[in-house]
Amino acid sequence: MTAGPTREPFDPARFLSNPSTGRMGYALASAALARGGEVTLISGPTPLPPPDGVNLVRVETAEEMFRATLNQAQGADLVLKAAAVADYRPEERSRSKIKKETLRRRSGRREAGDRAITLRLVATPDILAELGRRRKPHQVLVGFAAETGDLERNARIKLRRKNLDFVVANRIGTSGEGFGSGTNRAIVVRRAGKPLALPLMPKEEMAQAILDLAVPLLLERARHAGRARAKR
Ligand code: CTP
Repeated sequence: MTAGPTREPFDPARFLSNPSTGRMGYALASAALARGGEVTLISGPTPLPPPDGVNLVRVETAEEMFRATLNQAQGADLVLKAAAVADYRPEERSRSKIKKETLRRRSGRREAGDRAITLRLVATPDILAELGRRRKPHQVLVGFAAETGDLERNARIKLRRKNLDFVVANRIGTSGEGFGSGTNRAIVVRRAGKPLALPLMPKEEMAQAILDLAVPLLLERARHAGRARAKR
């Protein structure tokens, strides 16, 4: 399970991030624990208390989440990638606070009175796409998509591009769903079958609905692996 935002600092006083609070990922971790799962929660910065019995790995940046997730996912049957990973990070990270004047100087020649600065960003690794490439036959991979529009179409693109079993897509920018909210509404786009609408509900309930979709896939993969072993 991954949850929360990542932070991409450019000096000890400043970072780029997003409004994710980790509520959906933490609710998924609690629900999976309650069902008897052995759960590792790889969490970006959030004040939420970790659920009892979880194996918690705290990370800050997308790069740290990438390393921790690839490492932990090797032995995982189910990967739920609820974290809101920053797609870009500042190219440079200074150990000391960068003064405004230095930032402005680095931005090159400016018109008199122009106080704008330029920050160069570079791409972070796409963790889920890498898990999709390395995916083991028994693994079930679930992605999330935070969108302002075209939920189904965008989710379908992510499903194929990242080699996933299903994508839970929710709208952001509307109150009552998405970042930081206690409730959520989503469309689930699956490899097989029609998209499934999950109506507005508390995130704890949505976590149960997501596990209800993942468990049959896990059982099917386990049966398949058992049959393949029996044949050998
Ligand atoms: N994700 C990831 N690593 C990244 C970016 C995203 O693992 N560097 C995962 C998220 O955890 C989520 C899914 O990919 O499960 C989709 O994330 P989202 O931010 O909605 O989409 P992106 O793939 O980043 O595409 P875009 O920002 O263009 O919508």
